[in-house]
Amino acid sequence: MLPCQRHLFDIPADVAYLNCAYMSPLMKPALEAGTTGLARKAHPWEITPDKFFTGSDEFRVTAAQFIDCSADCIAIVPSASYGIATAARNLPVKKGQSILVLAEQFPSNYYPWQRLTEETGASLKVVAWPENNDWTAAVLKSLTADVAVAALPHVQWTSGGRLDLVRIGQACRKLGAALVLDLTQSLGALPFSVRDVQPDFAVAGSYKWLLGPYSVGLLYVAPKWQGGIPLEENWIQRANARDFSSILYTGNYDVGARRFDMGERSNFALLPAAVRAMKQLLEWEVAQISETVGALNRQLANAAADMGFSAPSEPLRAPHYLALRRKAAIPKELPEMLAREKVFVSLRGSSIRVTPHVYNTGEDGERFIACLRRIAVVSRT
Ligand SMILES: Cc1ncc(COP(=O)(O)O)c(C=O)c1O
Repeated sequence: MLPCQRHLFDIPADVAYLNCAYMSPLMKPALEAGTTGLARKAHPWEITPDKFFTGSDEFRVTAAQFIDCSADCIAIVPSASYGIATAARNLPVKKGQSILVLAEQFPSNYYPWQRLTEETGASLKVVAWPENNDWTAAVLKSLTADVAVAALPHVQWTSGGRLDLVRIGQACRKLGAALVLDLTQSLGALPFSVRDVQPDFAVAGSYKWLLGPYSVGLLYVAPKWQGGIPLEENWIQRANARDFSSILYTGNYDVGARRFDMGERSNFALLPAAVRAMKQLLEWEVAQISETVGALNRQLANAAADMGFSAPSEPLRAPHYLALRRKAAIPKELPEMLAREKVFVSLRGSSIRVTPHVYNTGEDGERFIACLRRIAVVSRT
């Protein structure tokens, strides 16, 4: 278990921020790294050509440690949707086949597949919400011979439901189906390894559980797809990019997944901030973060149970991700009511989504429960 790390964040004592799944706060050292990076643009003569590559490669090397792969398998992308669109551009899908998604899957991992079905004559196959909260069993049952691509998360974003990706990966390989993962709501808070899961593509935005800035993320591309077609064609993806004096065009790309990098990927402000935050997470260790945040969530789930709220239990629920439901409807205004008391959570689907991190104190949790008790009682009458 990690001790509270609030001193690294600029969170006032009276703010109970329990909303990492919405957007994590940037820690002070990451803000400093980003600010220093942004300031470089005031002195462009100091931005030598090598800086277009060193910062990006540091991002790749650091990000690869969360995925358990070589840095060459990482592309730098602006968003989850960009990574999913890259996968959809490259995976073969034929008429009559299907693409598997979950009920209530996040739109960035739904629309690109919907578009692909319109273009190919394939269809979307939606895994229905499992009554017993066992998303893994529901996915395994839906993985039939017609499935060309399973496009899934590690954690279902409205329920906190956790998928056993090792078993799902095995089932996909047996069928010859591709596996595409959106890890935005899990990477950094839930251990993951491409060696165990063997996905074809996996993407994560950095602004949630990687504690990074907005508009930068990582895309893992399995070696078998690294000869594919990127969404954009730009100069820095090409093999001769390091030679700034040359204007020769080349048909050759830089090595590994670099061909899938977004344009202007060498962002001098965002990348240092993202790297600094990831280094801190690695120092804390993902398994320890999961355990620490999980312990707080268990306390909150127990306290909320007295008020008639329930959540799937672990391991069907990811430890870092608590979604509380009850029989009576939850008022839509609940997040605003809590925000007036400086307690911050989200309402997603029909659940109150409570997502703490290592900057939260036990007192934050107690304040949430006390406010919920007051509001829940009032809203039922
Ligand atoms: C599961 C999931 N994926 C992705 C995103 C963000 O998508 P994008 O990076 O395309 O904006 C979110 C944001 O809430 C999310 O919850």
